[in-house]
Amino acid sequence: MGLVTTKEMFKKAYEGGYAVGAFNVNNMEIVQGITEAAMQEKAPLILQVSAGARKYAKHVYLMKLVEAAIADTDLPIALHLDHGADFEICKSCIDGGFTSVMIDGSKYSFEENIELTKKVVDYAHAHGVVVEGELGKLAGVEDDVNVAPEDSSYTQPDEVEEFVTRTGVDSLAIAIGTSHGAFKFTGEPKLRFDILEEVGRRLPGFPIVLHGASSVVPEYVDMINQYGGNMPGAQGVPEEMLRKAASMAVCKINIDSDLRLALTGPLRKHLAEHPDHFDPRQYLTDGRDAIREIVRHKIVNVLGCANKI
Ligand code: G3H
Ligand code: 13P
Ligand code: ZN
Repeated sequence: MGLVTTKEMFKKAYEGGYAVGAFNVNNMEIVQGITEAAMQEKAPLILQVSAGARKYAKHVYLMKLVEAAIADTDLPIALHLDHGADFEICKSCIDGGFTSVMIDGSKYSFEENIELTKKVVDYAHAHGVVVEGELGKLAGVEDDVNVAPEDSSYTQPDEVEEFVTRTGVDSLAIAIGTSHGAFKFTGEPKLRFDILEEVGRRLPGFPIVLHGASSVVPEYVDMINQYGGNMPGAQGVPEEMLRKAASMAVCKINIDSDLRLALTGPLRKHLAEHPDHFDPRQYLTDGRDAIREIVRHKIVNVLGCANKI
């Protein structure tokens, strides 16, 4: 089908009460594991690339991997820049063939966020590309951003209509208590569904995005801990909360940490059980298979987007 924007995907997801998975990609095994799952489950797909991923793998390699995934599967795939920090990186991804970009102005004041986001929207729309903005600040660690829990802040519902109207964004990421990484809650997991509900009421039909939405799958955390890793206290968002969000206004659910865990657990196990192996094709195969299975599980049981292409 080819590279698409998220416009049609989000419209169908909103009306159907499900969400599309947005999975972070960094290398061939990750792209293959995810796209194989989406192909098996006939699911629409967003592959997203962070600034760190672009630095690690290079824009052109990621672009070609995604083009290869489309040639191999004929799936509708959107290629999205995750957490664009400034106009320049958004422009570079738009010029370089991405169909969607996020401009993350959440660290700025409301007015500065609007000004920056609008600048990106104007450029993106002139080139047929859609834009995700963000209001509110998630806690957690990303490549070059580390937001302490005390510096995070929930989205204020009374700001969303003005933000969307003045910027022209196509979707909006909000902060309701999720965070990036594998350590999301210290106690009982809690999300502010009241904020999501109010945002949905103020923006009828408008697609909302949930970041920091890995479940931090216990099976792989245990495997990592069992085979020489050290991740005590890792905890993610319970799947039933994600299902609930997907049935509301959330149309895009971002998942990265679960893919990292699904690659690392089986890799550690494989090397521990086969200390003589040094061929990457041997020790990366189990992780690629694990990514495929965890993405299939999410598509079918969490996001609800199986058979939606
Ligand atoms: O939200 C951030 C994503 O998990 C990407 O992480 O910047 O380390 O590639 P990264
Ligand atoms: P996780 O760390 O929960 O996978 O979140 C990923 C994300 O929000 C990417 O933008
Ligand atoms: Zn994110």
